[in-house]
Amino acid sequence: MDSYISLLHLIHIFSAIFWVGTTLFMVAFLEPAIHASGTASSQVMQKLVNDTRFSLVIALSGLLTVLSGLLLYWQIVGFETAVMFTTRLPLTLGAVAGIAAAIVGTAVQGRASAQMVALGQQTAGQNGPPTSEQQSQLTALQATIQRGSRLSAILMVLAVIGMTL
Ligand code: HEM
Repeated sequence: MDSYISLLHLIHIFSAIFWVGTTLFMVAFLEPAIHASGTASSQVMQKLVNDTRFSLVIALSGLLTVLSGLLLYWQIVGFETAVMFTTRLPLTLGAVAGIAAAIVGTAVQGRASAQMVALGQQTAGQNGPPTSEQQSQLTALQATIQRGSRLSAILMVLAVIGMTL
């Protein structure tokens, strides 16, 4: 049992570090740099989403963090309300923040990224650059991803605080 819990800890901490680190890097450095690149910014964002495995890898790291976290929580706290809301309250609140970050990631960034991929396929199939309507859709999707990433980052920081108290 001890080695099972140690393995879960290892998986949880590794996936959480990757998930939170990548999100903070995006919010603090990548998105401001992409934004500052002016008219090319939505194309850079589209390249990131369409031509790399970024969306898949970040979604998997979030899923792994939440699944390993739930298994750990089950082992350590046991979903006993008397423990969940007393001695382990910070951990419980951290877990709620972590799950909320995963929901925001899926519902906001995940959906907007899927729409960006569909738009990318549409523009790739036509001759010439994106139309002005497609360009404004791209800019709106980029802004949605940015807002979602900021909210997720805040929730993740709250989760880390709760986990370590
Ligand atoms: C953004 C999401 C999350 C991050 C960054 C995160 C981070 C961490 C870290 C760094 C630890 C190690 C703390 C320590 O050993 O001092 C930890 C432990 C733990 N996490 Fe998470 N976590 C997240 C989400 C979750 C979720 C969603 C759950 C459960 C539903 C969860 C349950 C746990 C449990 C049970 C422990 C072990 C606590 C203990 O050993 O006393 N975590 N987490």
